[in-house]
Parts: sequence; structure tokens; C-alpha cells
Amino acid sequence: MNTLKNGEKWYDADGNIIHAHGGHMLFCDGYYYWYGENRTENNYISCYRSKDLKSFEFRGNIITTDTPTAGYRVRSDLALSHTDADGKPRKVNLERPKVLFCEHTKKYVLWAHYENGVDYSAARCAVATSDYPDHGFTYHGSFNPFGDMARDCTLFRDDDGTAYFAAASRDNADLHIWRLTRDFMNTERLVNILWQGEYREAPAIFKKDGKYYMLSSYCTGWAPNQGKWSVADSIDGSWSLLENFGDETTFGSQPAFVLPRDGKFIYFADRWGGSIGYNESTYVVLEIKFDGERPYIEYSETAEI
Ligand code: DGJ
Repeated sequence: MNTLKNGEKWYDADGNIIHAHGGHMLFCDGYYYWYGENRTENNYISCYRSKDLKSFEFRGNIITTDTPTAGYRVRSDLALSHTDADGKPRKVNLERPKVLFCEHTKKYVLWAHYENGVDYSAARCAVATSDYPDHGFTYHGSFNPFGDMARDCTLFRDDDGTAYFAAASRDNADLHIWRLTRDFMNTERLVNILWQGEYREAPAIFKKDGKYYMLSSYCTGWAPNQGKWSVADSIDGSWSLLENFGDETTFGSQPAFVLPRDGKFIYFADRWGGSIGYNESTYVVLEIKFDGERPYIEYSETAEI
């Protein structure tokens, strides 16, 4: 069994490095399915699963350059790779994948942040679906929700089944939250614009005792910075002022998602490889503790899963 240390490489049950960066987990049929970025070869998004969150079984590369595509909403860009002027193939970027199960359609619906592989000008969301949590995904393309920019993103499903997509917009200056359509396939309405001009990214939303919490970072590329938290009584209502979470580098990490588990809330984050190399990125996992409404983390060398 793995001893999972924060900031060290983690290995799956086959002994291969786990690439699930900027990821998300979905609990389903007794397994935690872990989705995340994998930039090796022709891969984009990988899936692992675990019963105990100590040992992870690789389930496959669920989105690659070869994933089947099918249009859904008009004017989505279905390209999963490009050919440059010199004839060389170029991968796009699919970042921060998140997956929810839609009760109405019985589909697993994946949302991610799409870029063209050259720069961050596209600022689009991308959608894929499957009948299964860990294989069989079809890519439905990328688009700008209501014409807006959408970069670092997250999904949140409320207790009543309503789903929301939150993403850094207006060149990262503001954080937008859209309610999704009933089938989770499209944005239905922009329901909030948060922290105008604060440049928040890496959003992670969770709900505790009827209140909504969001963790986020400032925008400093791959370098970690001071995390912040905020709380609200409703997703589309007023959110509290941003307050510090972790230390000035959030212990060298940037939020990926928060996993509610057995009454606890687990902060899953990336420690990006940055200048060492993207594939050297590791994970930081800490239990979120609460002082009244204030969430906080304390650093531990061992992942607190
Ligand atoms: C920080 C973001 O959180 C990452 O997902 C990635 O977009 C990098 N910036 C790119 O610089």
C-alpha cells in the first residue's frame, strides 16, 4: 500500500506515476473516481479509482487526442488537436477536469478548461459525457459560455441536484458562476460575479452545514500564492470577503477540489512542477478544520486522507 506523502510522487497499483493534476473526485458505487490532467503522450485526462484513497487503480486515459467527438450545442469547437503551419500536430490544453453524474440523463458529465495549446487566449469551457464513470467518453467541444471567458474552473452539484460551473472570467479578473441546464450540458444562466478585479483562480466549492464555501488562489501562473476562503448562504447570493487560507503559499499548493468524506472535508491540491517541469507536479492533501465558520489547514508531511 502506498504511503502518501505531500509533495512527493504518487504511484498507482501498477507502479506508474499518478497523473491526475488539477483534478476532481466523484464517489460512485463504493469507489472514489479521481479525474485529472495527464499531459503525457496523446493524453489529456486520466481516471483512477480507489476504495480507501490509499491505493489507486488506473482506469484509463478517458480523454485523448483520439476521443470520439459529437456536437451537442451549436458552434462548439470539436477539435482535440491542431496541425501547425509546418504540418506538425499540436495538442490543445484541457485543464482542471471535473465530473458530475446527472440524475436526469444518467450520464457522467465532464467539464474542463480548454486552451488552444499555444496560449491562454481561448479561455473556453469544454464538455464530454459518458454512460460510465471511467471509460466511453465522447467529447462535445469547447465554447465561451454566453460569450464570456472561462479559465480555471470547477463544478459543484447542490443537494437538490442543481449543478453550477464556476470559472475565472474577464481575463481572470472576476470569478463567474453559471447555473447549468438540467442535463448539465450547457450553462443556463450567469448567477453570480464575484470578487471583481481580485484575479481569483483554482476555485473549489463545498457545502457544510447548509453554507457554501469557496477556496481559491490568486493568479501567479504555476507559482503558489496565498489561498483565500469565502462563505455564502446561497451560491447566487452574497459571499463573504476573502480571508486567508493556509500560509503565504498555501503550503506550496493550489486548490484542485474539496472532498467531503465521512463528515470531514479534505483539501486536495496541486504542487505544480513549474520550472522543474509540469510532469513533476505532485499533490498536497490536508484535512480542512473549522474554527466556527473559518476553515483552515495545518501542514503535515503525510497526506491527510
Ligand atoms: C494556474 C492555473 O491554476 C493552472 O490550472 C494553469 O492554468 C496555470 N495557471 C497556467 O499558468
